[in-house]
Amino acid sequence: MEALDIILKKRNGLELTKEELTFFINGYVDGSVKDYQMSAFLMATYFEGMTDDEATNLALIMEHSGDVIDLSNIKGFKVDKHSTGGVGDKTSLVLAPLVASLGVKFAKMSGRGLGHTGGTLDKLESIPGFNISLSKEEFVKQVNDINIAIIGQTGSVCPADKKMYALRDVTGTVDSIPLIASSIMSKKLAAGADAICLDVKVGSGAFMKTAPDALKLANLMVSIGKKANKKMTAILTNMDEPLGKAIGNSLEVKEAIATLNGDGPKDLEDLCLTLGSYLVLDSGKAESLKEARQMLEEQIKNKQGLKTLAKMVEAQGGNSDYIYHPELFLNAKEIIEVKAKDSGYISRIDSYKMGHASMLLGAGRENLDTVIDPVVGIVLNKKVDDFVNIGDTLAYIHTNGKNTKEAIDLFYDSISYSDKKREVKLILDVVR
Ligand code: URA
Repeated sequence: MEALDIILKKRNGLELTKEELTFFINGYVDGSVKDYQMSAFLMATYFEGMTDDEATNLALIMEHSGDVIDLSNIKGFKVDKHSTGGVGDKTSLVLAPLVASLGVKFAKMSGRGLGHTGGTLDKLESIPGFNISLSKEEFVKQVNDINIAIIGQTGSVCPADKKMYALRDVTGTVDSIPLIASSIMSKKLAAGADAICLDVKVGSGAFMKTAPDALKLANLMVSIGKKANKKMTAILTNMDEPLGKAIGNSLEVKEAIATLNGDGPKDLEDLCLTLGSYLVLDSGKAESLKEARQMLEEQIKNKQGLKTLAKMVEAQGGNSDYIYHPELFLNAKEIIEVKAKDSGYISRIDSYKMGHASMLLGAGRENLDTVIDPVVGIVLNKKVDDFVNIGDTLAYIHTNGKNTKEAIDLFYDSISYSDKKREVKLILDVVR
C-alpha cells in the first residue's frame, strides 16, 4: 500500500477501506506518512467528504492510536459530556456535580480553551489549588470514591488526533463535518464512558454556523457512538449569544456555583437540566425524562450538587471554601460599567466577538503559551430579547488593564438591536 494511492483515491471521491485508513493514520503517527501527505489527505477529505462508515472507521482508528482509558474498575454506570466549544459555556461545572450527586459516575477528561472559546480546565484552575493532572489510578479511585473527577486529557490519549488537529488548524481543514466528528468521538470513545451527551453549538461563535450543518454533525457523532455500543444523545444549542452571563474563568466558576445554588441564569440552568436528564435516564436511575429532570432539580434545591462540586474540588487539592463562599475569589482591579448607546430589544450578542473581547482582556489564549488571567472577563447585564434604553448598563468589564479599550469597542460591536423580540430558542433539536 502507498500513501499516494490513498490520497488519490480520496481526491477522486472514492470510499477508503478500514485497512487503507489504518495504514495512513498509523503511518502518520509513526512518521512514515509525512505532514505534506496528511495535509493533502485532509484537504481532499474537506472537499470530498467521507461516508459514515469511513468517518466511523477513522474515529475508531484514532481512538486506538494511543491509550484507551479502562474504566472497568469503576463500579456503576459511567457518563461523559462534550461541547463542541462555546462562549460562556460552564455547563460541565454544573452538570457533572448534579448528575454525580445522584450516584451516576461522571468521569471526564476536559480541554483547555483556545481562541475565543473557554476551556473547563482553565475555569477549574481559577479555584486556588485545583489540580487537573491525576494519574489514571487516582482518576479511577476518585470516581469510585465520590462519583466525579474532571481532569486534563493525558498526552497518551489519541495521539493521531492531536497531530492531525494541529495540522488541520494551519491548513484550513478544521471545519469539515467528518473530521470534526471523528476527532471528537475518538477522544470520547477512548475515555471509556457508557453514555455520552454531546452539546453541538450552532451560530456565530461555533464551528457549525447553520442548524442543518450542526444536525449533520450531530447525526454522524451519534451514529459513530452507537456503533461503538455507547448510549448517545446530541443536543443542538443556539450560540447566537453567550451561555449565561459570565465570560471569563473565575467569573464563570462563580456563575456555576450560583446555578448550583438555584440562583443562576435560566438558559444555563435549562441546558444543564436538559443534558443531565438524558444522562440520568440512560443510567437507569430514572424511568422517564421528566422524572430525571425532577431528580436533578431536587439536587439543586437540597444543595447536593453544590456539595458534590465542593467534594471534587477538595479531592483534587483545591480549596472548597471558595465553593461555599464565592466572595473569596479575587476581583479584577477595575470593574467598568458599559452603557447602551442605542435603545431597543437586543437581537444578537455575537459570541465570537464577545469571546474575543474576553480573550483580549486576558481571559483566553491567543496561542498555547499565553498565561491566563483568571479574574478578568465580562459579565452581561442584558441578554438577547431584553429591552434596553440608552444609558442602561449592558455589562460589566472586569479588567486588570490589558486591552481594555479594544475589548470595550469589540463588546459594542457584538451587540445588535431590533424593534421586535426574536423569541430565541436555546435548544434547537435533540438526536438520540
Ligand atoms: N473539537 C475537537 O475536539 N475536534 C474538532 O475537530 C473540533 C472541535
